[in-house]
Amino acid sequence: MPDDVRKTGSVAGGPDAPDTAACVRDAVDAIIERYPDKTGRLLNVLNDVQERYRYVPEAAIERISERMGVSKGQIVGMGEFFNYLSLDPVGRCVIDVCDGTACHTQGAPRLVAEFEKALGVKAGQTTEDGLFTLRTVGCVGACGIAPVVVVEGDAYGRVRVMQVPAIVSAAEEAQAL
Ligand code: FES
Repeated sequence: MPDDVRKTGSVAGGPDAPDTAACVRDAVDAIIERYPDKTGRLLNVLNDVQERYRYVPEAAIERISERMGVSKGQIVGMGEFFNYLSLDPVGRCVIDVCDGTACHTQGAPRLVAEFEKALGVKAGQTTEDGLFTLRTVGCVGACGIAPVVVVEGDAYGRVRVMQVPAIVSAAEEAQAL
């Protein structure tokens, strides 16, 4: 952890990637069974799928659609709306740069450019070695400490461009443990 970068909070993490489509279907079935109450059921199921696989696989979307009677378009729409849901496989470490209004005006675009330079990928991409995914996301609910960067669920506030290499190094070290 770099001395000049303060970690300010925590969000969720999750285990490794899925195996076969059949396994995903079985896992989704088990998750759906956890939520007999229809209120908020779809979002709860998507949250649990995201937590298990770190993204919502296509096979899961298909199974949820079949089992819950919602269209794949509706599921994809929710996946696109909620920051913490991902419809694409991600690297072992996800770096989210908040680009909501407060963070944008406090320099988020410059942070994105610096992370892109440090990681050698554009926002929305994963590094070739599968280690990092860089994303821009909407407001993460911490506008008071804008601009905010969230690394694997750990939030850093009032991030300056010069701190980006230290954040990347700390994330690399954490992955090497
Ligand atoms: S806009 Fe970034 S935390 Fe709200």
